[in-house]
Amino acid sequence: MSMPTLQERLSLAISIAEEAGELIRQARSDQSFSQRLKADDELVTDVDVAVDELIRQRLNAHFPGEAHLSEELSPERALDADTSQLWVVDPIDGTVNFAQGLRHVAVSIGWMEDGIAKIGVVHAPFLQETFSAAEGLGAYCNQKSIAASNVATLGETLVGTGFPYQKEARQQLMPRLGAVLAKCRDVRRNGAAALDLCDVACGRLGAYYETVSPWDFVAGWVIAREAGASVGHLSTVPEGVPADLYPKELLVTAPGVYEAMRQLLLDAEQS
Ligand code: IPD
Ligand code: CA
Ligand code: CA
Repeated sequence: MSMPTLQERLSLAISIAEEAGELIRQARSDQSFSQRLKADDELVTDVDVAVDELIRQRLNAHFPGEAHLSEELSPERALDADTSQLWVVDPIDGTVNFAQGLRHVAVSIGWMEDGIAKIGVVHAPFLQETFSAAEGLGAYCNQKSIAASNVATLGETLVGTGFPYQKEARQQLMPRLGAVLAKCRDVRRNGAAALDLCDVACGRLGAYYETVSPWDFVAGWVIAREAGASVGHLSTVPEGVPADLYPKELLVTAPGVYEAMRQLLLDAEQS
């Protein structure tokens, strides 16, 4: 059997994400789910696990033998995963939003080849938006081409970010948040990292920074990059870990403000 093209992979990933989104919408309308806390105060519902299983089955059927990294079924050894052909899946990004009846919820499916993230699909079932991109093929929302904004100053830059579940880890993020509030247009905390990245990709946000996990960002990172956003890290990526999988200290911005945002956040840490 011949290897599927990137376009074929992308089309299948979009249909799998949309099927998963239907399961999420159904579960909300039936209110048929229970919730519990995992380790470290992280919320998880039955739906997170069921959606992860559905996506796993579909990917296995279409791409047998390819590896998976997913939040609920196989989160282990994330940073030394074999990235020769790797699917990176967050079945529900925005679980707290999902459980609270808010709409910033997404299915995130990324695919990497030889350490490079090449496909990203982020489907938001309650917003009826499907963001998608493949390496060299551009970025889209509901099949319309999207691009990062042309903001050029911090004063015009609306910034997305997020905070970890562990409350002790939040305090150290305050200097950066304070600097952003002092210099940028304002801050949004929408509760789904994958959608924050897509909002930079389509110009609704000028910048996004956060430390997350691989499944939160790989798909949105491809979409932002293909939309012309600047993508990078505020700290050094450890040797041997692909930058496209390394989830710490992400900075993704409209190209005109990357350097200024980087400097602002790094200086804030020192003060
Ligand atoms: C979370 C969301 C949130 C981010 C957290 C993530 P989850 O993912 O992306 O925006 O701030 O760090 O853990 O738990 O809803 O899949
Ligand atoms: Ca997530
Ligand atoms: Ca999740």
